[in-house]
Amino acid sequence: MTKSEIRNVHARRVWDSRGRPTVEAEVHLADGSIGRAIAPAGASRGSNEAIDRRDQGKAFGGMGVAQAVKSVHEEIAPALRGLSAADQAAVDRRLIELDGTALKSRLGGNAVIAVSMAVAHAAAACAGEPLWRYLAAGRPVRLPMPIIQIFGGGAHAGRRIDLQDFLLVPIGATSFDEATAIAAEVYRAAGLLMEERGLLRGVADEGGWWPEFSSNEEALSEAVRAIEKAGFRPGENVSLAIDVAASQFGRKDRYKLTADKTELDTAGLVKRLAEWCVRYPIISVEDPVAEDDHDGMRAFTAAVGERVQVIGDDYLVTSAERVTKAAAAGACNAVLLKPNQIGTLTETLAASDAARRAGWRTIVSARSGKTEDFTIVHLATGWGADQLKVGSFARSERMAKWNEGIRIEEALGAAARFAGRDAVGGTGRRVAAE
Ligand code: PGA
Ligand code: ZN
Repeated sequence: MTKSEIRNVHARRVWDSRGRPTVEAEVHLADGSIGRAIAPAGASRGSNEAIDRRDQGKAFGGMGVAQAVKSVHEEIAPALRGLSAADQAAVDRRLIELDGTALKSRLGGNAVIAVSMAVAHAAAACAGEPLWRYLAAGRPVRLPMPIIQIFGGGAHAGRRIDLQDFLLVPIGATSFDEATAIAAEVYRAAGLLMEERGLLRGVADEGGWWPEFSSNEEALSEAVRAIEKAGFRPGENVSLAIDVAASQFGRKDRYKLTADKTELDTAGLVKRLAEWCVRYPIISVEDPVAEDDHDGMRAFTAAVGERVQVIGDDYLVTSAERVTKAAAAGACNAVLLKPNQIGTLTETLAASDAARRAGWRTIVSARSGKTEDFTIVHLATGWGADQLKVGSFARSERMAKWNEGIRIEEALGAAARFAGRDAVGGTGRRVAAE
């Protein structure tokens, strides 16, 4: 018997930041170590993501997780018993085989990711190490650059504006702690500005302000004003990032920007976004076009990729295979890593490795439906990701992540390093359009 042998896997229903049911898994090892993790849930989901198992039916708007919890108790627990939690790859392989579907729909993506993450936590506990240190396995670690939402839109804010996220990148920060302090000042300034103008409707799903803007561009100009009001220089201390989440308002050659009262083809959308990247200090753009718009993704990357980071989220769904293909095609130059998009930690790490091989940057990301679980902060730090995106600077399910980063930085003490401004932005390489 080894200390790290899995003795039992337990699951329960808990609740996420939208008040919806989700799965918490608990893994018990032979030496008494316990690992626990909770599955998150997205609202603007890619169509090639792992599929959560939901009960349908009347209760909780069909979002119940009784079936997913049952998958854990009846199938996953017996299949994992006896495996070593220290061999994450073997555990995840067993989960993938046991499920047997392309998108983990049989056992449920929610059941599988909760267990996969809980196994990592149990293994770290068994090794007597915090998860980030355990995952780093002796490699030097550094804290990722935070990307912090300031305004929410799209599917997270009643579609008042079309673009989903307007975010800050505190490029002038020299530590994670300082990055959060800058975010706090700008977030507060943005709130005051919106209040002064009488535009505030509340906060969106990820804690960002939800103002009554009359166009998408107004969110950009107001974000710049907020940076200035907080006493920082736009583009010098603090830059901007956007998550267009374009699959939410269109598909190839048909993009309907309701807030701008306009419909654009792919070339039109690419042109408009590229113009915004010149007019505003934007250094990162996520999902600029829809998940089926390969040509648009290539055109946009060719147009701005030298200076601007182009992130694939719905477009890549944390898949190593998609990352490798996209890199060969010159579509995107960075990958968003959402563990529940692909379903296991081993596959998430594979997507990260594929991105590194391509010379891309990596961004570990939360989902819009979250909990107090802060596993992703440990993944980002332990795996050496460039950036961490967990939503805005309000609501405890978001703050739990920022606060955990601060604790990790402090635990590293003098050895703490920070992925500064060089860890975000374009490739510096020109890519020729065809
Ligand atoms: P989600 O979206 O609602 O699917 O979590 C977050 C994102 O698009 O980055
Ligand atoms: Zn996204």
